[in-house]
Amino acid sequence: MPDPVFLATAVEIVLRAGAIQLERRESGFRVAKKGEIDLVTEVDLECERMCREVIAERFPEHDVLAEELGVGSSSRPPARWRWVFDPLDGTTNYAHGLPIFCASLGFEIDGRAEVGAIYDPTPHELFTAERGHGAYVNGRPLAVSATSRLIDALLVTGFPYDVHQRTGDLVALFGAFLGSARAVRRLGSAALDLCYVAAGRFDGFWEQHLKPWDVAAGALIVTEAGGRITGMDGSPFDAAAAHLVASNGHVHEDMLTVIREFRDGRAPNRTAD
Ligand code: IPD
Ligand code: CA
Ligand code: CA
Repeated sequence: MPDPVFLATAVEIVLRAGAIQLERRESGFRVAKKGEIDLVTEVDLECERMCREVIAERFPEHDVLAEELGVGSSSRPPARWRWVFDPLDGTTNYAHGLPIFCASLGFEIDGRAEVGAIYDPTPHELFTAERGHGAYVNGRPLAVSATSRLIDALLVTGFPYDVHQRTGDLVALFGAFLGSARAVRRLGSAALDLCYVAAGRFDGFWEQHLKPWDVAAGALIVTEAGGRITGMDGSPFDAAAAHLVASNGHVHEDMLTVIREFRDGRAPNRTAD
């Protein structure tokens, strides 16, 4: 079991990030563009600097991988311990005043996720997990849904910032799922999508072109809540591989079938009935 100080630190950082996000939403913040539709706010940077300061002070030998400043400026070889931080997941929502955003922090030892903490400050929901010790929201145990048929499933997905270059494929796969499930949503925060699969609010989530900080904490929260996570081709989940299917386990194979048949050029209207 990882030292409890790691979970305590992860929780402290995401709660502090949430407080900054709520406070700055009231006081105002500047928004800049990283790409044509890819935004970064002052709040992303402020939350990331806070996280880096806390880790550098408490665990100077640990690495930090975070969205806005990457791996930082360390010249030493990679450490065994790594914190993977998304300072504001749902930046587009945040910039538009839509209250669906969070901070997400995963902690890895030797490349394996050991701790995850995600805080959604609007409803005050703190999602946590430690490997082998279950997943929790505000201290209450989380469990995935029991939905067994894709036609009864509520699914969620997301789209990358280069969506304009890939619109056709992304929308076509979205259409294949629309034709197979009860309904499909797009919330705009991959970390919360994963938490909501863990909480049984969604039965499944798929997305491609993700980054490690989008999923480092949420993937552990899903598996510790009894869910399953793989690549979109069914391969073992790899946070660096950028694509995933996360589910309650029961609808997983049917989700993989939709993707496989779509990729084989046989997009079905329905796979489970
Ligand atoms: C984005 C969100 C979104 C997902 C994108 C991510 P950001 O992260 O998680 O839901 O569809 O792929 O890049 O930019 O808000 O941190
Ligand atoms: Ca993100
Ligand atoms: Ca972000």
